[in-house]
Amino acid sequence: MKLWGGRFAKETDALTDHFNSSISFDQRLYKHDILGSIAHVAMLGKQNIISLEESNAIQAGLSDLLSDIEAGHVSFDEKMEDIHMNIESLLISRIGDVAKKMHTGRSRNDQVALDVRLYTLDEIKTLKEMLFTLMKAVTDIASLHTETIMPGYTHLQRAQPITFAHHLMAYFEMFKRDYKRLDFAYENTNYLPLGSGALATTTYPLNRDDVVNALHFNGICENSIDGVSDRDFVLDLLYTLSTLMMHLSRLSEEIILWSSHEFHFVDLDDAYSTGSSIMPQKKNPDIAELVRGKTGRVYGNLMGLLTTMKGLPLAYNKDMQEDKERLFDSIDTLKMCLPIFTQMLLTMNVCKENMYNAASGGFTNATDAADYLVKKGLAFRDAHEVIGKLVLHCVTNHTSLEALPLETYKSIHPIFEEDVYEAISLKTCVSGRKVKGGPSPEAVNMHLEKAKAYLNAIA
Ligand code: ARG
Repeated sequence: MKLWGGRFAKETDALTDHFNSSISFDQRLYKHDILGSIAHVAMLGKQNIISLEESNAIQAGLSDLLSDIEAGHVSFDEKMEDIHMNIESLLISRIGDVAKKMHTGRSRNDQVALDVRLYTLDEIKTLKEMLFTLMKAVTDIASLHTETIMPGYTHLQRAQPITFAHHLMAYFEMFKRDYKRLDFAYENTNYLPLGSGALATTTYPLNRDDVVNALHFNGICENSIDGVSDRDFVLDLLYTLSTLMMHLSRLSEEIILWSSHEFHFVDLDDAYSTGSSIMPQKKNPDIAELVRGKTGRVYGNLMGLLTTMKGLPLAYNKDMQEDKERLFDSIDTLKMCLPIFTQMLLTMNVCKENMYNAASGGFTNATDAADYLVKKGLAFRDAHEVIGKLVLHCVTNHTSLEALPLETYKSIHPIFEEDVYEAISLKTCVSGRKVKGGPSPEAVNMHLEKAKAYLNAIA
């Protein structure tokens, strides 16, 4: 018999049970459900809503049940719909009628909101630790490559020389913002919905502040209708995880390109690559590809829940049961992607020479050649024109700016001198960009200092 069966004249159809039930996925909330119930029942006892004896008996029963679930001794029943009903009915069968008082002054609507919030808070802590480890890895790798010259790109065309450290540290900044977004999502999650009841609180003299303290929330959800209707905190996390996946996906895309024969800027470690069943020579960047691919499902979870929520009248609607699989899937995906992605980065071999050669072949110093003329007194727009002509000459004759003889320079403009070669060397191009935030080893080292201080502050 269902715990809500009193009003019903017959049993639900088996199809209804199966369709309605969420136990297959919400069973992972068992711990948070039990901890929430313990705090609720402790408060009911203190408020004399139930006796202290009853409160203690229920709390003890819940603790035992938690240990038994953790030891794998408990199985859940689809007919009992969800984790909340399963736990309540298990408790009744274990400690008897006193357990029937547990749900006093509470609804599954505020209960599920509480469970999801408690679960989300715990998972955000884990995600923050994983992201921290990735950020630390990025700074460690970058520290080794402040002088590793590579081409920087725009439109995927070689643009200006930068360093590998400078390129990687761009991702550090993205991850830092992701970390802040996790904090933001945490803050919005950290309020107690319990006490909202089904939607309009209750006539029992609940003490919500007591439960806030017991469960370490920041405060209560101030409006009971909002308390049971709000899934913004889930959306905040889903958006944060989508953006984090987008960043991982962009770096994955670069790693896939870089590990191609055509670029050959990096070699992935054998332990983090896979082979082909037919082509013996293949070594594929599957991890980076899967991270890029899984980004789609994380976006899908965000769009799916936004769409589920958009037409819901206040307050609770069963549609909201659809929040959990999306939330769980995004969290699970990130918890898989972050550690393996970090390992893939840490074990990746950086082919400095290939990076350098790519930076030298593609006129990445053309801007610096123009700036050389500006220093000699030309207006930038005229200098741009002169160097453009030189580049065209090089392209036609299959050569590079650094290989051109001085006569050729002079034939296009007499102001060129021997010192042009020094001015357009890749090293000069990079080290001259000392502006804060730029690629010179000096500037990147400053950034690295700040990045390390940030990591120390959040560690
Ligand atoms: N399993 C439900 C969910 O996940 C719990 C809340 C059910 N509330 C209700 N009034 N039927 O949303």
